[in-house]
Amino acid sequence: MISKISGLIEEVDSYQPASAQELEDFRIKFLSKKGILNQLFEDFKQLDNDSKKETGKWINILKNKVNEKIELYKKEFEHQKFQALFTGLDLSMEAYPLKAGSRHPVSIVKNQIIDIFSKIGFTQSVGPEIVDDWHNFTALNFPPDHPARDMQDTFYLQKNPDYLLRTHTSSVQVQEMQAHQPPIKTISIGRVYRNETISYKSHVQFHQIEGLYVDKNVSFAELKQVLYYFVEQFFGSDFKIRFRPSFFPFTEPSAEMDISPVHGKTRWMEILGCGMVDPAVLDNCGIDSSIYTGYAFGIGIERLTMLKYGIPDIRILFENDVRFLGQFSSQ
Ligand code: DAH
Repeated sequence: MISKISGLIEEVDSYQPASAQELEDFRIKFLSKKGILNQLFEDFKQLDNDSKKETGKWINILKNKVNEKIELYKKEFEHQKFQALFTGLDLSMEAYPLKAGSRHPVSIVKNQIIDIFSKIGFTQSVGPEIVDDWHNFTALNFPPDHPARDMQDTFYLQKNPDYLLRTHTSSVQVQEMQAHQPPIKTISIGRVYRNETISYKSHVQFHQIEGLYVDKNVSFAELKQVLYYFVEQFFGSDFKIRFRPSFFPFTEPSAEMDISPVHGKTRWMEILGCGMVDPAVLDNCGIDSSIYTGYAFGIGIERLTMLKYGIPDIRILFENDVRFLGQFSSQ
């Protein structure tokens, strides 16, 4: 029996499978239930005790060699399989260029505005888009019969018509003054809604930035200076500015600011409304108008965006056409 086993050991030693399948056949031949090793163990049982000692040793040597061989080639074939995955592949090839998304131009402009105002100490505040009549109109001195309160101009909530989609971010002024005592120096950027006919120059939704500064001795001269600073930072120094007297229920005096040139032409375009916060508004919001004064301004972000990038139609800003959006950098 021993010579049979040593013949098998030689066979195992010199065995070199060419494939994983061959190795599997080899495993079955030696290790399966009816395989050579089990057969040898069966024969082993018949031996007398003396022969068992020597023969057992040889069977174990054979068994270990079979296992080692299987382990060795198993690893080898796995490695080959892994390598095969990469044959013919050029791993230094560039990946498909993935197109990165870009920011919406309104977001780009919004971030620039935040940057510009934060440099001169304005904090950022946010307010809800659904507000009550008091925050949007009454606290801001709108008389009960003011046309802006008309259903034609404002979206009221059907379930509770005391609530509406804010028509301007000036409602955040009210919220901020109710929540804090001066000094208050804040801007608020957000979406506003108006019941308007959609055209190249107006939409039912757009964005505004509201600025508010309330403290002791705040003056109109400071307001003008801050707005000069803003326009210079945002558009550069090639623009002229003019203020025109205007009217808003919540500021006194009030003004509108125009800039020129527009799209290379010398005409003027209005870009914002502003003024000194009406003392009645300060009092409505719990701020003592005999101690404090303030200024406020409101700017339409779409209008700034259209001017900055030469966009002729506001509607394109809401269509999310990637051919349009892809032209803006992802800053
Ligand atoms: N709320 C005004 C509007 O939507 C804009 C505005 C004008 C805001 C003058 C102000 C301001 O704060 O002082 O047309």
